[in-house]
Amino acid sequence: MDDNDPGSRIALALDVPDLDAAKRLIDQTHESVGTFKVGLELYTAVGPAAIEAVHTAGAKCFLDLKLHDIPATMGRSVARAASMDVAYLTVHGAAGLDALRQASGEAGSTQLLAVTVLTSLDAGALEQIGLCGGPRNAADRLAKLAWDAGLRGFVTSAHECAALRDTLGEEAFLVTPGIRPTGSDVGDQKRVMRPADAIEAGADLLVVGRPIRDADDPTQAAAEIARQVELALSQ
Ligand code: C5P
Repeated sequence: MDDNDPGSRIALALDVPDLDAAKRLIDQTHESVGTFKVGLELYTAVGPAAIEAVHTAGAKCFLDLKLHDIPATMGRSVARAASMDVAYLTVHGAAGLDALRQASGEAGSTQLLAVTVLTSLDAGALEQIGLCGGPRNAADRLAKLAWDAGLRGFVTSAHECAALRDTLGEEAFLVTPGIRPTGSDVGDQKRVMRPADAIEAGADLLVVGRPIRDADDPTQAAAEIARQVELALSQ
């Protein structure tokens, strides 16, 4: 898929338990979706076969393993992902500067994406694990740490996207989950945004899961989101 195609701005989360279900979803949507996200559930179940299924469809693979380990292990794991031609790979900012630097040094053409604070953690939950000062503070601090380690990709709520873009500038690559087209079920996401609004807020890549996976017609749901992205890009 061409970089100017609206589908190149959409990553569909393959949050399914097995390879057959993943292949089915890829088949149904690959004309409107340029990137497929393989997360912990699918990767734990089937491993690199999930990456192969994405590549076989001619799409990019986003490996969402949220790595958080000692520097040597981070570096070696990132090198393995890069050798499988994964386009995007997530790492936790909280792994620390040395681990992030090591990861960055092994990434090759894989774009690392820093996860700062999980959106499931509120101020109370952060205090319990010793991160004081609130989620916004912690997210800013971890984003800066990742930037200093050489990372230029960040996962952010669409609601913080515009502020992060202001802070980090055009060089940053911003990825936003929590996307919901008008009328779709919010599910357990607390802070959602429509596709067009996320694009206008400066998002480079929108992560969409259930609005497509759980639609009666995933092909049509993906095409409709691509249409909304196209409209936003043309404005
Ligand atoms: O189904 P839904 O569109 O909410 O899926 C969002 C995807 O993005 C899921 O795979 C989820 O794990 C991931 N994600 C998220 N929020 C974050 C980081 C990742 O929802 N902060």
